[in-house]
Amino acid sequence: MSLHLIAGGAGFVGVNLAAALLELGHEVVVVDDLSRGTLSAMAPLRAHAGFSFREADCSDPEALDQAVGELEVDEIWHLAANSDIPAGVADYRVDLRQTFLTTASILDVMKRRSIPVLHFASSSAIYGDHGDDLIHENIGPLQPISNYGAMKLASEAQIRAAHEAYLGKASICRFPNVIGTPATHGVILDFVGKLKRTPERLEVLGDGSQQKAYLHVDDLVRAMLHIRDLGERFAVFNVGPIDDGITVREIAERVRDRQCPAADIHFGEGNRGWVGDVPRFRYSVERLLGTGWSPSMGSREAVQRAVDEIIAQEVRG
Ligand SMILES: NC(=O)c1ccc[n+]([C@@H]2O[C@H](COP(=O)([O-])OP(=O)(O)OC[C@H]3O[C@@H](n4cnc5c(N)ncnc54)[C@H](O)[C@@H]3O)[C@@H](O)[C@H]2O)c1
Repeated sequence: MSLHLIAGGAGFVGVNLAAALLELGHEVVVVDDLSRGTLSAMAPLRAHAGFSFREADCSDPEALDQAVGELEVDEIWHLAANSDIPAGVADYRVDLRQTFLTTASILDVMKRRSIPVLHFASSSAIYGDHGDDLIHENIGPLQPISNYGAMKLASEAQIRAAHEAYLGKASICRFPNVIGTPATHGVILDFVGKLKRTPERLEVLGDGSQQKAYLHVDDLVRAMLHIRDLGERFAVFNVGPIDDGITVREIAERVRDRQCPAADIHFGEGNRGWVGDVPRFRYSVERLLGTGWSPSMGSREAVQRAVDEIIAQEVRG
């Protein structure tokens, strides 16, 4: 059994990953600055003797090194990033620090301490807008349209260079939209929050035609562990459902029907929710399917389940 450090592990994906690693008998230390993640999200993890938490800014190599302290870490999962894409478009420093400098700093500490294995949470945002073309791992050119996507792509490039120089193994997992609980951001949480404030009216950013693939976090965590178990020296995988996704209009209707059936839905204009939003993408997960992983849910099923889970989290308490 190994000691896993999860940078950004107090957030949505991090607590689900930590629970799965602890269940497998590993030790887990979460390092997070609590800018978005919370102590309460980690509360269920504290039941495990192998769990610990250290608060630190992972974009500062000295602070991160100090947080690691005496620990002999075997593997790092790098999940620390900015999750507010519009905020990153408005101010480039947000993604520079939270999305890119976290990578630079984690690699710095891995080099100093000879920590050999890195797993990186990347994103479909690195590809940019490819319209109706099927996005597989070798498509190009890579032209991200948000600072978030740009800093994820820069992170991937830096990890590749580090792998050439000193990193033993690196895996890069390019997530689509991931949903479930404890939700910290995303379209479903946004709609549930809006209906809580104005139960008679739901405002949607854009005309609702944006269509994207959604993966439930349970399937994502299984994929991350599966990729780890493949043991490749340098691996790059898209992860997602096997479908073309679901529209924002359908998601809005599902949330409305479950939470406030009498509410009116008001759509905005244009097919982008915000600057940097890719309105539609078709994601290929053939490479990962070829290694024996497959998702248990499609986008619609994942959305249906996450809507129930997030309403329970936000409304029923
Ligand atoms: N959820 C998705 O739909 C999705 C899609 C694509 C990629 N990703 C990537 O997966 C990872 C996890 O996403 P998530 O949905 O759990 O997001 P999240 O915001 O819930 O978690 C990110 C965590 O990183 C922490 N963090 C941010 N900056 C930090 C810093 N400087 N030092 C220490 N901690 C810091 C936050 O406090 C938060 O707990 C992120 O890297 C994200 O970019 C997520």
